[in-house]
Amino acid sequence: MKLLIKGGHLVDPSQGIDEPTDLLMEGGRVIALGKNLKTNGAHVIEAKGKVVAPGFIDLHVHLRTPGQEHKENLTTGSQAAIQGGFTTVCSMANTDPVVDTGTVVEFLKAANAKVGLVNLLPFAAVTVGLQGETLTEMGELKERGAAGFSDDGAPIMNAGVMRRALEYTKITQLPVVAHCEDTHLSANGVAHEGQAAARLGLAGIPSESETVMIARDLLLAEATGGRLHVAHVSTERGVELIRAAKARGVLVTAEATPHHLTLTDEAMGTYDARFKMNPPLRAERDVKALREGLRDGTIDAVATDHAPHSRAEKEAELSQAPFGVVGLETALGVLMTELVHQKHLKLSTLIAAMTLRPALVLGIDRGKLTVGSPADVTVFDPLREWTVDPSAFRSKGAHSPFAGWRLRSKVTDVVVSGRVVYRDEQFMNGEKR
Ligand code: DOR
Ligand code: ZN
Repeated sequence: MKLLIKGGHLVDPSQGIDEPTDLLMEGGRVIALGKNLKTNGAHVIEAKGKVVAPGFIDLHVHLRTPGQEHKENLTTGSQAAIQGGFTTVCSMANTDPVVDTGTVVEFLKAANAKVGLVNLLPFAAVTVGLQGETLTEMGELKERGAAGFSDDGAPIMNAGVMRRALEYTKITQLPVVAHCEDTHLSANGVAHEGQAAARLGLAGIPSESETVMIARDLLLAEATGGRLHVAHVSTERGVELIRAAKARGVLVTAEATPHHLTLTDEAMGTYDARFKMNPPLRAERDVKALREGLRDGTIDAVATDHAPHSRAEKEAELSQAPFGVVGLETALGVLMTELVHQKHLKLSTLIAAMTLRPALVLGIDRGKLTVGSPADVTVFDPLREWTVDPSAFRSKGAHSPFAGWRLRSKVTDVVVSGRVVYRDEQFMNGEKR
């Protein structure tokens, strides 16, 4: 059956479309775009007053499966993704067991197919057991379904290992996604090394723990000609280094999170683990630089680093609580409210950073609505106001730095491979909440 999304404002940066346009799909693919498309018998989603965009792609999600399902599982993680408008997510490999064999990659693909909500593109580990020493079988992992390689959560301290990993990207054509942190500099730090941490008496994580590793990895990417993607950039100098490397032709891409784009270290007024993540929230100048990086394209993508933990874990004493905050369900609302509605960023630039540009990082044929593309579509009401209530999250994680925030923009409908999975803010499986 045909599906028509009618009367919406279509934004597809891949085609330069940013105007009222109808979208027609059939057989899981886009078959036509245009004004006032008429088809008899098509199922119609009325999108007047709404934005119609390619389904969002999140390059950085911790789905905690296998092995840490008390934090998140594929069902809760996928539902959280859909509520946030994400139709494709890349899962991080710091699970138990680690995603370092083809068996675990295939398990994830098969388990996700059973849930049947999002396109799951699993990242496999760069090193066996995330130990930072022995490279995984990257070629085989790619054949078995890995979409990229990352030791996220466990920085690769050995530059020789990183150099060889980057060499292999020339064979796999898949990026190494680097969590850039020098653990000798971050040590037992809890928050950004600055005035806020000093006031609270918290051990600091200096900006250099990130920047020295970004500099190292950029030099190694340049020397090898390999493909580097820098995860969750948080510092002004990091943005500058990446901008300069891009200008020299280094094959580097980068992402920033909604929380690093909107919050500073001052957000942690008290000892509150909702603001404890790695890298930490930084200073005002860093936030400004990240925004400028997003505007000028130095930062390719917005990625959530959705990192759920159980309530008990996050309620431990701050120095003991794990790093990580949830982000799938608030990303669009936060970025629309703080950046687009405040006129710091064009709507089309935000959409590009959530669709086309992450697709280019991965080298996949998604993130666009050209005729023939997979029918992954996100519809949102740009003016719909709502209050962030973590108890209403689908994610098992409830620790959001945005709890209680009043946001303007909410996802209303989501189509994955031509199938309507979310309609008028409800899941389509008949389940009531
Ligand atoms: O805040 C974080 N949480 N940063 C990481 O690098 C890992 C992640 C996690 O797995 O919880
Ligand atoms: Zn990380």
